[in-house]
Amino acid sequence: MTKRFMVTTPIYYVNDKPHIGQAYCTIAADVLARFHRAAGEETFFLTGTDEHGSKTEETAKRLGKTPQELCDMNAHYFKETWKSLNISYDYFIRTTDARHQKTVEKVLSILYRATTKRGEKVIYPGEYSGLYCVGCEKFITDKELVNGLCPDHLEKPRRVTEKNYFFRLTSYLKQIEELILTDKLKISPEERKKETLGLFKQGLDDFSISREKVSWGIPLPFDPTQNAYVWVDALFNYISAIGYGDDLNQFNKWWNGAEVVHLIGKDILKFHAVFWPAMLLALGERHPDQIFLHGFFTVDGQKMSKTLGNIVDPEYLVDQYGADATRYLLLTQFPFGQDGDIQVERLVEKYNSDLANDLGNLVSRTLKMVESFCGGQISGPSTYERSDEELKKEATECAERVWRFIQEINLNQAIDQIMKLVRSTNKYIENQAPWVLAKQNKKERLKTVLYVSCETLRIISALFYPVLPQKCKRIRQLLGLPDDELSPTLDKAKKWGGLKPGTKVGTLESLFPRMEKKVQTKRVKEAIVEQKSEMEISFEEFSKIDLRVAEVKEAEKVKGADKLLKLKIDLGAEQREIVAGIAGQYSPEEMVGKRIVVVTNLKPAKIRGIESKGMLLAAKDGKTLSLVCVDKDVKGGSEVS
Ligand code: ME8
Ligand code: MG
Repeated sequence: MTKRFMVTTPIYYVNDKPHIGQAYCTIAADVLARFHRAAGEETFFLTGTDEHGSKTEETAKRLGKTPQELCDMNAHYFKETWKSLNISYDYFIRTTDARHQKTVEKVLSILYRATTKRGEKVIYPGEYSGLYCVGCEKFITDKELVNGLCPDHLEKPRRVTEKNYFFRLTSYLKQIEELILTDKLKISPEERKKETLGLFKQGLDDFSISREKVSWGIPLPFDPTQNAYVWVDALFNYISAIGYGDDLNQFNKWWNGAEVVHLIGKDILKFHAVFWPAMLLALGERHPDQIFLHGFFTVDGQKMSKTLGNIVDPEYLVDQYGADATRYLLLTQFPFGQDGDIQVERLVEKYNSDLANDLGNLVSRTLKMVESFCGGQISGPSTYERSDEELKKEATECAERVWRFIQEINLNQAIDQIMKLVRSTNKYIENQAPWVLAKQNKKERLKTVLYVSCETLRIISALFYPVLPQKCKRIRQLLGLPDDELSPTLDKAKKWGGLKPGTKVGTLESLFPRMEKKVQTKRVKEAIVEQKSEMEISFEEFSKIDLRVAEVKEAEKVKGADKLLKLKIDLGAEQREIVAGIAGQYSPEEMVGKRIVVVTNLKPAKIRGIESKGMLLAAKDGKTLSLVCVDKDVKGGSEVS
C-alpha cells in the first residue's frame, strides 16, 4: 500500500497580512509536502486561517470593519501570498467556513455528553478569573509576565472574570505524558519534548473552553450564551478540514491512515502537545504522530513587532528575489528547529553566492558548453574514468541522504547535501576543463564529461525541486526532459542515465541573475519599515512635543467646510486660534468651556485661509470621535506630561 503523509501548519490569525514568520513555517511545510510527494507518498498538505476571537473582533472594530470583512480581506491576502510563494497546499481551511463551524458544534456536543473513565463529565461549568493576553488569545499567569507585560506581545494583559465551561484536562494528563515519553506522540526536536514533559511536572489545570464576552465565535450548542474559546475552535481545524463532520471516509483515510505531522512554532507548544491530544482522547480519536516545533527568528537582531515596525512582508522578498530564492533564503539562515536571526543585508550575499554563483553558473555554463561544443545535443558517454565514477556515485547516493534528513525534518541538512553536490559538480567541471578538451579536439572525452555534468544536473534539479520548484522545472525543460518528468520523483534521482543521448538541450543567460548589493539591500530595508506611525521613539523625541491644557473660549463653524470648527483657546499666557475637524461630532455651543489638550509647538498651518496655531487631541473609534479632556479643573496652559 502507498504510504500516506499529512502535514499541517498552524492556521494563522487574520488580524493582519501574513508576515515572514508565518511564511517560514508554511514554506517549510510545503518543502516537506513536496518531498513526500516526490517520494511517491500520497500527501495531504493543510493550511488556513484562524478567524474567530477577541483579536479579530477588536482589530475589525479599530479598522471600522465587520469581523467578517476583516477575515475575508486578510484570508485573501494569505491565499495570495501563498500563491506567490508557490505553496502547494491541498486544502485551505477558514474557521468561519460553514463546514468547519458545523464540525466544531458536533465535536462540542459529543464532548458535552462524554464522561471520563471515572465517570465525571468531560465538560463542566465553572467560574474563572485571570489575566488574558489578546495577542496570544490565552490566559497568562503572573509568573509568565515580564515587567507586567506579556513577553511575546509586550502588551499588558487584562483581567477577565467570567462564567465559563471547562475541559477536564487533568483526567488525561497521565495518558498524554505516557504517549510523549514513549514517542508514540513524538515531540521534536528533543529539547521541545523535554520542555513539554516539564509542563507536566509543573502541573496543569483544566482549561476553559468557552468565552462569555467574546461575541465573534462559534456558539456552544449546549449554551448559546457562550462562544467556543478560539483555541478550541482552531485546533479542530485539523480534523474538520478532512471530513470529521461530514465525510468519514476521507477522515479515516487521512487521520487514521496517514502519518500525521503538525508543524508549528514553539510559541504554541502547550496547545498542540497537551490540550489537543487531550481533546482527541476525550473524543475517542487518535493523536497525531508527530508535532515538530520550529524555532523563532528575530530580524536584524530584533524581535519582529508592529510597534518596532520591522515586520517583513513576504511579498516584498518575492518581488526582490523571486519565489524560489525567497524559499531558499528563508530556510537557510539558521538550522531548522532552532532559533535564529535573519539579517536582511546578508540575504543578498547568500543569494549571490549560493544561487547566482554556485547553482546558477553551473546551469548556464553546462548548457552553454553543450551548445558550443556539441551542437546543443547530449551525446552518449563512452568509458568512464575515475572522476566520472566518483561524481556519479555522489549524485546517485545523494537522494538517499536527502530523504533521510527530510524524514527527520532536518531541512537545512537536506539542502546542504544538495548544495554539496552542486559544488562537487562545479569542481568536476573545473578539473575536467571541457574547454581545453574542445581545443585539443578530444571529442569522446568531451562528450563524456558533458554527459556526466548534464546527468548530475538532472539529479540536482530533481532533488532541489521541492525547494525551488519553478527554477528546477525550468532546468528540466532545458535538459529536454519530457513533460511528465518535469515534476520529478526521488526514485528517478537515484538512477543514473535518465538523460537519453541525442536529446536537444536549451540554453539560458542566467537562472538567478546576480544582484547588486547596494541597490537591493536598500529596497528590502524600505520594505521592512511598514508602519512608521507605530515606530518607537525615544523619550527625548517625545518630550519635544509640548502638550498643554487649553480652555475653549469661543467656537464657530468655518464657512464652506462642514467638518471644521474654528476655536479660540486660552493657554494661560496667551490666546490662540486653532482649526479642528470635529464639526461632524461637536457643535460650537458644546465646545465652549471645555478643557481640551493641545499640541502647542507644531508649525502653524493655514487651513481654509485661517492660521491654525496648534492641534487638539481626540480619540477615534470607527466613526466616533471623542475629545481628550482633563477631568479636574486645571488652568489653561497647564502642562500635560
Ligand atoms: O498562533 N519566527 O497564529 P499566528 C518564526 N492562530 N516563526 C514565526 C514567527 C517568528 N518570529 N512569528 C510567527 C496562532 N511565526 C494561532 C494558531 S493553530 C490551531 C492556531 C509562525 O498567526 C510560527 O509558526 O500567531 C507560529 O507558531 C505561528 O507563526 C503563529 O501564527
Ligand atoms: Mg502569534
